[in-house]
Amino acid sequence: MNRTNFINSLYPNSIIKNYLEIGVRNGENFFSIKYLNKIGIDPDYFFSKRFLFKSCFKFHNWKYKMYRKTSDLFFREQAPQVYKNSKIDIAFINGMHTYEQSLHDTINCLKYLKNDGYIILHDCNPKSAESGSPEIPKEAINCNGDV
Ligand SMILES: C[S@@+](CC[C@H](N)C(=O)[O-])C[C@H]1O[C@@H](n2cnc3c(N)ncnc32)[C@H](O)[C@@H]1O
Repeated sequence: MNRTNFINSLYPNSIIKNYLEIGVRNGENFFSIKYLNKIGIDPDYFFSKRFLFKSCFKFHNWKYKMYRKTSDLFFREQAPQVYKNSKIDIAFINGMHTYEQSLHDTINCLKYLKNDGYIILHDCNPKSAESGSPEIPKEAINCNGDV
């Protein structure tokens, strides 16, 4: 089961869920998540116009918000207001792949998580010592870092 199917399987009977994705990149996972209240955060996300156009035909992509900023800034500037009345059901942490930042993101998500909500941390099981190294090459794609 890949990350997208796993996340979609958490609430099979409800589409109205608050989903937060930290680190969105090209939206491949984000726009395939079948919950309605979605928030994405990434200082460097990039979607092609064609991909965005196609995604908008799906009902679950009608009510999303994307923030072009780091997760730390989002939690400082937006989260208190955004999650004032309704907290997070699912947080998918897949942003900066360092121990410190993933811990930071987890602690911040916990502050706004519903009691029965989920936090999913990606890239915790590196396939090699190199891909689990804290030294992440800038151009690396399949690097876990020390998450
Ligand atoms: C592995 S990619 C995300 C992949 C995506 N979640 C998916 O499943 O297809 C990691 C992304 O995290 C973003 N990122 C890096 N530092 C970040 C930060 N401090 N806060 C939020 N996103 C960050 C990068 O720009 C990159 O696009």
